[in-house]
Amino acid sequence: MNIQKLTSLAKSAKTRSIISLFDQKERINDFSLSTPHLYLDYSKQNINEVELNGLIEIAQDVGLSESITHQFDGHKINNTEGRSVLHTVLRAPQVVKQQVLGETLAHEVEAAEQQMAKIVEGVQKGVLTGYTGQRFTDVLAIGIGGSYYGVKVSLSALEHYRDLALAVHVIANVDGGALEEKLKKLNVETTLVVVISKTFTTQETMLNAKAVKQWMLSCASEVSPADNNLTSVIDKQWFAVSSNLEAVETFGINEKHILPMWDWVGGRFSLWSAVGLPLALAIGNDNFSKLKQGAYEMDMHFKSTDFKQNMPVIMALLGIWNRNALEYPTLAILPYAHSLRALPGYLQQTDMESNGKSVSKSGDKLSWLTAPVVFGQEGTNGQHAFMQLMHQSDDIIPTDFIVALKGRSQYTENHKVLVANCFAQSEALMQGKTLAQVKSELEVSGLSVEKISRIAHHKTMKGNTPSNTLVMELLTPETMGALLALYEHKIFVQGVLWQVNSFDQWGVELGKQLGTSILSAMDGVKDDSLSASSQSLVAKFLARV
Ligand code: F6P
Repeated sequence: MNIQKLTSLAKSAKTRSIISLFDQKERINDFSLSTPHLYLDYSKQNINEVELNGLIEIAQDVGLSESITHQFDGHKINNTEGRSVLHTVLRAPQVVKQQVLGETLAHEVEAAEQQMAKIVEGVQKGVLTGYTGQRFTDVLAIGIGGSYYGVKVSLSALEHYRDLALAVHVIANVDGGALEEKLKKLNVETTLVVVISKTFTTQETMLNAKAVKQWMLSCASEVSPADNNLTSVIDKQWFAVSSNLEAVETFGINEKHILPMWDWVGGRFSLWSAVGLPLALAIGNDNFSKLKQGAYEMDMHFKSTDFKQNMPVIMALLGIWNRNALEYPTLAILPYAHSLRALPGYLQQTDMESNGKSVSKSGDKLSWLTAPVVFGQEGTNGQHAFMQLMHQSDDIIPTDFIVALKGRSQYTENHKVLVANCFAQSEALMQGKTLAQVKSELEVSGLSVEKISRIAHHKTMKGNTPSNTLVMELLTPETMGALLALYEHKIFVQGVLWQVNSFDQWGVELGKQLGTSILSAMDGVKDDSLSASSQSLVAKFLARV
């Protein structure tokens, strides 16, 4: 990425007010975009046309068009692991699958889709039942990271489409308290378990899976003390999604209940594969297909639209503008929708695990910073928490507001207030309030000069915070698919510009290795390579009563 060009492009923006950009009459038309399911207003970003064109040139110079083609065509763009990155093909029509994957693999993918759809139908119709013949009432999905977040965010987003006869629960954390909380709600005879783990070695997932298996077997022995074939509870009620078939079988899951994952689908982009099984069980096959359709439409938009009108490309470039040109280190994700409450957490993983890197694809140290720190919360809750800092500290925090024009609840006034708050916050963050404005307001309210001078500074707000507002008509499976695909592509484009490999995650490994060393230390194996601090913490753990 031409960082010199980027920095020099940003010279005037650093001291410019966003509001002043609205002097240009057509700004709202020129700085907004539509795709089949989403509308993006980026007019509140601190950028003008010349700067945006400059950014687009930077993207062209790094060969973004070629990189997009390479991703969709299956080049091994995950170079550190020698893998293609083809989650997009999972939501494409069969003919595209055949072109990209070839006959054999395309059939394998189709077979997995059919197997998954059959499971969903079987559960819905009561053909698949628990080991005592009862219909399933609950699903417990066990997985973490990419084998969790996509399902979690979509489950709450699409709650409205849920089959009310089936409650789907997800468990990721290894905290036994979290597990107990889930298990308390479950009945052994009517709970279907899905273990999702690409590697089938992830510590948290394996521990949780073992604990749930034990719980099931011991509950089953209480329910049916005379039954001497209790493993049928596992055989009938357990499913797995993994690329490590051997480990799944060793764990004891019925081989007919194993759905595949492929190395060309990264964990955090895997919702579109059989990883989506718990979601499909919750919302049904048709809605799951609609989710994929929405994502596919975004793929087509991304692949074929000129950069200037291309939503993922524009959002990516704006992110780079804010991160590297204006030097803002964070990004707030503020969905004004309770159903999108899990989106900030989901995007923390997809964005930060993908682009939180500091060397290029060829291993050279980068001379620019990459992924911002992503955080957020559903609105309006954030307004009564961290948004104080966004308004009045000296830190400028670029923000993505996300909102649906129509709500689902009967409380239409609540929805109106929710949307009003969303629009008001982007306005307030941009406009701020100057000292002069505050003083004149206080004068009008009749405050004494002495009181005004005491309080005025406390009431000023810096403003000039850039934001995107992403608007959808209604949150549906299609719009949700489009939204997730939009961010996936945005992250990909940023990775191309930052020249990182967005599809590996070696940084997670060190924590895993040291976790194992600490665990051994907790079992009494002294490890002098650990710092005095960690050794003393372990000693405290061992000395607990
Ligand atoms: O968090 C690291 C990670 O490797 C993610 O990329 C992955 O989605 C997650 O762990 C879970 O891995 P697995 O699906 O193999 O259990």
